[in-house]
Amino acid sequence: MKDIADEVGLSVSVVSRVLNGKADEFRIRTETQESVRKVAHRRGFSVNQIARGLRLNKSHTIGLLIPDISNSFFAKIARSVENFARRKGYSTILCDTENDEDIEKESISLLRDRQIDGLLIAPVGRESKHIGAVFDSGLPVVLLDRFFDHLDIPYVTSDNYRGAYEGVCHLIQNGHSKIGYVQGIPDSKPNLERLRGYKDALRDNGVSFSSALICGQAFDERDGYSSAKKLLDGKKTPTALFASSSVGALGVMQACHEMEIKIPAELSLVAFDEYPYAPLLSPPLTTISQPTDEIGEMASTMLLDWLESGRRPETAEKTLETRLVSRQSVGSP
Ligand code: RIB
Repeated sequence: MKDIADEVGLSVSVVSRVLNGKADEFRIRTETQESVRKVAHRRGFSVNQIARGLRLNKSHTIGLLIPDISNSFFAKIARSVENFARRKGYSTILCDTENDEDIEKESISLLRDRQIDGLLIAPVGRESKHIGAVFDSGLPVVLLDRFFDHLDIPYVTSDNYRGAYEGVCHLIQNGHSKIGYVQGIPDSKPNLERLRGYKDALRDNGVSFSSALICGQAFDERDGYSSAKKLLDGKKTPTALFASSSVGALGVMQACHEMEIKIPAELSLVAFDEYPYAPLLSPPLTTISQPTDEIGEMASTMLLDWLESGRRPETAEKTLETRLVSRQSVGSP
């Protein structure tokens, strides 16, 4: 550290604070942090995490479980978490659970074997028993996006109800009264809240609800595709679809392409989740954008403050606003 300090022209204590993740705490400028890390990296310096962990009884490592790393929504959250944790001197071990509870359970066990200090979980969202058990064991846990009403575990999520309500009202304001809902994992909290928002938007605008216009089982393209095929080839074809995820909406667009259904001339489409390529699709997709960076950073802050203070967060439930991003996938029927 002394060699690094001499080369950068700083005191050993400043260098130590940067390399031990205390830079923000001591308000050390970002530029200073970056020059210390660059020299340390070039000199092959690394803090011996294992020895440090044994001495401090902390590994300065957190686990992050997400259900689908191929989904840009979760990839953005993962980047936000990892970036924030690194700035605070924590490493992040990421596990992709592939929307599979068995993998989720195995991943929790694997992460605990690696002595993580705390855990961020975006659950698959169907089963909660194993999530409750890891929390009851005393390990600090914060949930992201999907949570469980019956578990007293801190969480950060979006206002799924309000986002869906606004998206369906946008379709109704464009003249639609036969609107299908392409859902994700039916029992997951985000889907339940979006379905509630969909139903209340119909009710509040005097539009009748029909369960025949609800279809879907998963947050993925394949399910969006099969749901669209079912909803669009019947007699009661809707003039608009609200997709509960952008990946599902991609499947809907694929089905429309194959069925030669033109968007928006013959079908309007709104999707939950901003999607990096939404502006480049044909037509550009209207979405309900979730604050992914804020979700990741806020959940990370809750967990790391908990780890540093030893006290669970007082405000343990945060619901963040969504935003309608209107593009060209919505027209009049
Ligand atoms: O795209 C995946 C969906 O599942 C997102 O809407 C996110 O909210 C998650 O619950």
